[in-house]
Amino acid sequence: MKVLIIGGGGVIGQKLGAALGKKGHLRGREISQIALADIVDPKPVPAGCPVTTHAIDIAHRASVDQVVSADYDVIYLLAAIVSGQAEAEFETGMNINFFGTYNVLERVRTLGNKPVVVFSSSIAVYGGEVPDPIIDHTFLNPQTSYGMQKAVGELLINDYSRKGFLDGRAFRLPTISVRPGKANAAASSFMSSIIREPLNGVEAVCPVTEDFPHYYLSPRKCVENLIKGAEIEAQDLGMNRAMMMPGRMWTIRQVIDAMDVVAGPDPAKLIRWESDAVIQKIVNGWRYDMRPEKSLKLGLTADDSFEDNVRYYMQDELGKS
Ligand SMILES: NC(=O)c1ccc[n+]([C@@H]2O[C@H](COP(=O)([O-])OP(=O)(O)OC[C@H]3O[C@@H](n4cnc5c(N)ncnc54)[C@H](O)[C@@H]3O)[C@@H](O)[C@H]2O)c1
Repeated sequence: MKVLIIGGGGVIGQKLGAALGKKGHLRGREISQIALADIVDPKPVPAGCPVTTHAIDIAHRASVDQVVSADYDVIYLLAAIVSGQAEAEFETGMNINFFGTYNVLERVRTLGNKPVVVFSSSIAVYGGEVPDPIIDHTFLNPQTSYGMQKAVGELLINDYSRKGFLDGRAFRLPTISVRPGKANAAASSFMSSIIREPLNGVEAVCPVTEDFPHYYLSPRKCVENLIKGAEIEAQDLGMNRAMMMPGRMWTIRQVIDAMDVVAGPDPAKLIRWESDAVIQKIVNGWRYDMRPEKSLKLGLTADDSFEDNVRYYMQDELGKS
């Protein structure tokens, strides 16, 4: 069993690679190679099997053809640019999130070995004037170019699977928090930084009010779900390969209260409240009342509380138990 992670240098890709390296098997078979590919040669991850690293630019078919081969049994397609950048740079978003996805799926189709392909979609495919709650089959009505590009990716995954070119599945990730590293261009970036920065003794800005609700999942659970997602049998996926990944809805107040419980009251004092009209406009179009019935039935799970998300960050990133 050989696994390729495209976007393997990113936050989720690195954690997924390390988790697979530790687990050692997937879909009932031993993993004999983990390949990590990203726009620059990604950092290798610890594993009991060989780990290879590759530079790939999914926006260019020739680059995709060099890296994606018929050797791989499972391919994770995580490479993308995030919502804020895709909104600000329309052409870049189309080249990477739209044509990049198409380039990878087309390469797989022509190879003919029909691997499992796991695609990271987003809850940003939902939005606008559709009734609550959001269920798996709610009409996709993205209110950003990023959301549109992910919705197109889902349709491609469905059609390439229906045609038998590959065995695809697409999971609409909730906002991943607490995300390690630096703030990025995602409009949701503050949903991690208001916890991460204060836990590191650094000031953070919250651009929305404390009653702002959103739908979250920890990186640890996300990786667990991506692994389970690859293991689902095709016949259990039904006629729509795309579904929500489970998460939970919390308000900013609940998120901060969870940090207080786990880390004491001092970190929250480092949060500065400063409204930002651009971010507010993007995130107001997002949906949060989600019912991920299908993935829950298939065995994917959410965090029990946001306190867990804070604890996982402290354990995994700060080495605190
Ligand atoms: N983190 C979240 O909250 C969240 C929420 C919903 C969906 N997602 C999706 O999950 C996936 C992983 O997210 P992440 O948080 O690890 O993001 P990330 O930005 O850390 O990782 C994405 C990776 O894709 C790579 N990439 C960008 N353009 C590329 C190109 N042209 N060719 C090859 N690689 C390229 C980047 O270098 C980066 O390492 C993405 O598809 C993202 O859209 C993430």
